[in-house]
Amino acid sequence: MDTWDSMQNWHLVLPPSRPSGEELERIRSLASDIDRSAPVGVLGSTPEFRDLLHEFGFSNVHVLERNMRFYEVMGEWRVYQNDEHVVSGDWRDTLGSLRGIYALILSDLTSGNIPYSDRAGFYDLVTEALRPGGFFCDKVLTHTGPMLSLDYLFAKYSSLPLNILHINNFSCETLFCSELLDAENVVDSTKFHAILNERAPNERVAAFVRHTPLITPLGCKWYYGMRWCDLEQEYCPDLARTSVHEDVASSPYYRRMKCFCLQKDK
Ligand SMILES: C[S@@+](CC[C@H](N)C(=O)[O-])C[C@H]1O[C@@H](n2cnc3c(N)ncnc32)[C@H](O)[C@@H]1O
Repeated sequence: MDTWDSMQNWHLVLPPSRPSGEELERIRSLASDIDRSAPVGVLGSTPEFRDLLHEFGFSNVHVLERNMRFYEVMGEWRVYQNDEHVVSGDWRDTLGSLRGIYALILSDLTSGNIPYSDRAGFYDLVTEALRPGGFFCDKVLTHTGPMLSLDYLFAKYSSLPLNILHINNFSCETLFCSELLDAENVVDSTKFHAILNERAPNERVAAFVRHTPLITPLGCKWYYGMRWCDLEQEYCPDLARTSVHEDVASSPYYRRMKCFCLQKDK
C-alpha cells in the first residue's frame, strides 16, 4: 500500500509538513515574472500550490501525481476547482517524457518519497523537465548534525499542552528529526510508534504518542535521516541556486530544512 493511502487527516496537518504563508509569499514574488501561459508543474497534489498558481492566472497547470485517491482528497481542500492537467504516474516514469517544458516546478518535501539510490536520477529528470531559464522551488529536509535524542524530546513535551500544534511538532521531531532515524535512515511510522509507546516516560508524553497517528499514520515510510553532506552533490548539480531559505526559528524543522529556489541556464 502506498504511504499516501494512509493519509486520512490532512486537514490536521500543519506547516512545516505543508507550505507556510512565508514560503508561499516567496513563490508569489518569483512567479510574478513568469509568463502565465507557460506550463508549470506541481510535484504531488499540494493544494496550496495549485491555488496559488490558479490565483496568479497560470492557465497550464500540471499536477504530477501517482496516487489519484490522494489527489481527489486534496481537491476537497482547495479554494478553487479550476481545470488542471493531471500527469498520472510515478515522477520517475512520467518526468522523462516532459523534457524542457516547465517554466516553474513546485515541490514541498518530495525528497523523502524517493529512495536514496534514485535521487540523482530523479533530480536529473526534474532538471531536464525545466525549460531554459525555468525555476525549481523545493523544500527539503537537510539534516546536517546529530539527530535529536528522545530523552531531550520527552523532557520538552512533558510540559507542553496537548493540542494539534504540539502534536504536529511532536510528530515532526520524533519521527523525522530524532535518533530513531539513525538505525536505517528511514522513517518507519509503525516501528517508531511502537518504540515511542514503549519508552514514553509519563502519561503526557504517552498522550502525544497516542495522537501522533492523527498526523503521521502508521504504515508510512520515508527516506530521511541521511546527512545532507552525503546527499548534496546529487541535488540538482546542473541548476543554479538563486536563493536558499532556512525555516522560521519556531519551527520543529528549524536548521533542519531548506527552501531552495534553483534556475536552469537560459
Ligand atoms: C508532495 S509529497 C509531500 C506532501 C507535501 N508536504 C504537501 O504539502 O503536499 C506527497 C505527494 O506526492 C505524491 N507522491 C509521492 N511520491 C510520488 C512519486 N514517486 N511519484 C508521484 N507522486 C508521488 C503523493 O501521492 C502525495 O500526493
